[in-house]
Amino acid sequence: MHQKAIILDFGGQYTQLIARKIREVGVFSEILPYNVPIDKIVSLDPIALVLSGGARSVYDKDAPTVSQEIFKLNIPILGICYGMQLIVHLLGGEVKEGRREYGRSFVNFVSRSPLFENLRSREQVWMSHGDEVIRLPKGFRVTAVTEERNVIAAIENGNIFGVQFHPEVTHTPSGVDILRNFLYKVAKARGDWSIGQIIEDISTGIKRKVTQGKVICALSGGVDSTVTAVLLNKVLGKDSFIGLLVDTGFMRKGEVKEVAKNLTSLGVPLKIIDAKDRFLKALKGVIDPEKKRKIIGKTFISVFKEAAEKITDVRYLAQGTLYPDVIESTSVKGPSAVIKTHHNVGGLPEKLDFELVEPFRMLFKDEVRKIGKELKIPNELLYRHPFPGPGLAVRILGEVTYERLRKVREADFIFVKELKKTNLYDKISQALCVLIPVKSVGVVGDKRIYDEVIALRAVSTLDFMTADWCDLPKELLDKVARRIVNEVKGVSRVVYDITSKPPATIEWE
Ligand code: XMP
Repeated sequence: MHQKAIILDFGGQYTQLIARKIREVGVFSEILPYNVPIDKIVSLDPIALVLSGGARSVYDKDAPTVSQEIFKLNIPILGICYGMQLIVHLLGGEVKEGRREYGRSFVNFVSRSPLFENLRSREQVWMSHGDEVIRLPKGFRVTAVTEERNVIAAIENGNIFGVQFHPEVTHTPSGVDILRNFLYKVAKARGDWSIGQIIEDISTGIKRKVTQGKVICALSGGVDSTVTAVLLNKVLGKDSFIGLLVDTGFMRKGEVKEVAKNLTSLGVPLKIIDAKDRFLKALKGVIDPEKKRKIIGKTFISVFKEAAEKITDVRYLAQGTLYPDVIESTSVKGPSAVIKTHHNVGGLPEKLDFELVEPFRMLFKDEVRKIGKELKIPNELLYRHPFPGPGLAVRILGEVTYERLRKVREADFIFVKELKKTNLYDKISQALCVLIPVKSVGVVGDKRIYDEVIALRAVSTLDFMTADWCDLPKELLDKVARRIVNEVKGVSRVVYDITSKPPATIEWE
């Protein structure tokens, strides 16, 4: 069994990043809510505990806290930002409202610490806090201070450590070394979380769970379901796995064929269900985005159910659920979960009488990609931009019709192609086209046209909870706009969306 580090989540925006960074340096990590009972922590036998950041002040009336018992467990503890302030507060030091400090800062290391071994004496770090530590608890010493104002930036006492800055973000360039030092030099990690180990663990789990009958899985062409299918098929062997690809008619240009080709070449048995007409009929006259999503979700379930019932001996339903969907904490989900009804295979498990197989429940997307790489799934598939379950239907504002699908699909094809040609596709997180139900006048040749508008959107983001719009090169935008207006009949104008998330979401519906 592999070693693990536990991160107690106090609602920080970077908690998942801490977990990912720890895994990246070879130690399995799990996120638990801050108020998990101590017994549960002990039963998991962690080699290290990390107290995450959080948005509160330790003096707030209902500030999240932990029992003092955790300091008696003799497990190395690292408090990050709020986590450090909490350590100070609980052990008798003092935290005070300070000057808000947000962004890049420099710290000087003022005394030796295993945490900062092999670092320079001055490092750039990322700060994001209001309160600051002004008096240390008994036995603690300061190991780093900020250059600008001499604020306490790191403290320690025995195997309890605190850093005011965020080692988990890339703006702290030596952050990953700090986490590595904490895990290897302090917590004596073995580094047993490797991709080989992950695949072995998951394969054993699958074999243990799937003992008889077949497994089915809804395939979308996305990373998670593709890797799920390829792995399950490989582990279970011949005739035990079948992938179902529902062609909703809302996929990208040529996508159904491409997905089928890719999966077939990877040896995955696949059944394609053509439900294009059924989806389009169900959406006739529907304009409200939420209604659209609900109808698509419901139709998907019916189509999938009917297809699944035609296959004999099915006992399990596999899903590519990832760790971020599973984490029980209140904070980590973020508000986006409730802004839109996200229907991938929305509600499938509840409506079907199959046992669930979710091999990636404990994994992050980058880990699933690594498994995909091991399984020889082409990069193009592993690194494609996310695409919503309801597909192009939620990129058509107003009614979804065959004709309007054609416009958005063609425009999307041009946009993505040009991004790939200029090597920008992999540098941005997501690009999309939206068809706006507004007509505008244009001239093509000598002819007046009066047609709909396409909006281009390109964003960069780490977690899709917040996102910045991309400042794409003018030449590229120019070319894409020209091509769309010239080549996509029924589009008279192209605009570029320059709204960040928040306040706007990434998709328009
Ligand atoms: P929003 O529009 O909420 O999107 O900012 C955040 C990310 O989620 C994707 N998205 C979906 N993904 N099913 C999905 O699997 C959906 O129904 C869905 N709706 C939005 C969106 O493309 C973006 O990457």
